[in-house]
Amino acid sequence: MARLAERLGRCWGVNPERAFAAGLLHDAARALTLDGQRALLRGYRGRTWDPITRNRHSALWHAPAAALLARRRYGVRDTGILRAVALHTTGWPNMRTLDKIIFVADYAEPRRGFAAAAVLRRLAEKDLDAAVAVVVRGKHAYLRAQGSGVHPRSRALLASLAKRRR
Ligand SMILES: [Fe+2]
Repeated sequence: MARLAERLGRCWGVNPERAFAAGLLHDAARALTLDGQRALLRGYRGRTWDPITRNRHSALWHAPAAALLARRRYGVRDTGILRAVALHTTGWPNMRTLDKIIFVADYAEPRRGFAAAAVLRRLAEKDLDAAVAVVVRGKHAYLRAQGSGVHPRSRALLASLAKRRR
């Protein structure tokens, strides 16, 4: 995933080392249990640790938790990297290029088995916004199939993409 992020960084004018670092860090909290993630996030004021995430979307906790670990344990001070890590699950309407790269690379990384991931990787090199749209739609379809709700930040991202096309 980090290698893919690095390559997309090169494509889209983001320092590839920053993209690589964000790629390495984005799931840094995955090894923790949900209880561990919640304990880590206690008192955290970041906006990705909002009440809806806290109360309804435990699958998203690892993203703000990873940003917190990146800052506290690994000493990352690059707010662009921390943001991209914190937002990698939901995205949001005003994504910067590095946010988009991590959002897409996470979904399309080579280890993901599905054939569409390879197509998506190629698309991301040509049209990053189109790739973001594919990812957000894919995530929503998955969540619908699971009967799970979609975080409002992710819904807002989809709405912003629809507006942009008009
Ligand atoms: Fe993740």
